[in-house]
Amino acid sequence: MMIKRLLIGSLILLGTLLVLLLYLPAMRPQPLPMQVQTTGEVQIGGPFTLINTRGEQVNESLLEGHYSLVYFGFTYCPDICPLALQTITETLETLGPVGDEVMPVFISLDPERDTPEVVASYLEHFHPRFVGLTGTLAQTTAAAEEYRVYAKKSFLKDADGVETGDYTVDHTGFLYLMNPAGRYADHFSKDATAPEIAERLRRALAGS
Ligand code: NI
Repeated sequence: MMIKRLLIGSLILLGTLLVLLLYLPAMRPQPLPMQVQTTGEVQIGGPFTLINTRGEQVNESLLEGHYSLVYFGFTYCPDICPLALQTITETLETLGPVGDEVMPVFISLDPERDTPEVVASYLEHFHPRFVGLTGTLAQTTAAAEEYRVYAKKSFLKDADGVETGDYTVDHTGFLYLMNPAGRYADHFSKDATAPEIAERLRRALAGS
């Protein structure tokens, strides 16, 4: 009887210890994700190697010495991209001469079709200072990853569900404001209007 009680007692104790062992680590306060970033800087942007519309190789130093508005898209995009580039164009027109300190940058997510020539003629529809970048698929994919941009080729199908051979590129539509050090300063959703972005840029350019 005594032995049985002792046995049950130790089993309960063992069980309690096991539960504590399993759950204690989870109960310990975890460091907040924000505390992981020692600089407090959002990890968007980084090194890239791309080709401009003149066929020259450029890298992230292109963004240094001035503010930049960076947008990833593709020239065959039916609606979102043209709207975004139009919004950037309007933003810079709204800013007037102050806007000359901001470099608008378009980076292709569809380099197979977006050759430097294709990008150049596409950008003729938008602000004349637009810098258009493309490259090899590996280069644009790497750049997109640095900017946390999601992009996926999606093959189009006809009414019978047969692939037409044509494709679109599903992608995130954030517009990034990069500071004169070439680092992330802010971002805008695809719904941001030109006056809103212009106001944010005015504040940035005024150093606040
Ligand atoms: Ni698009």
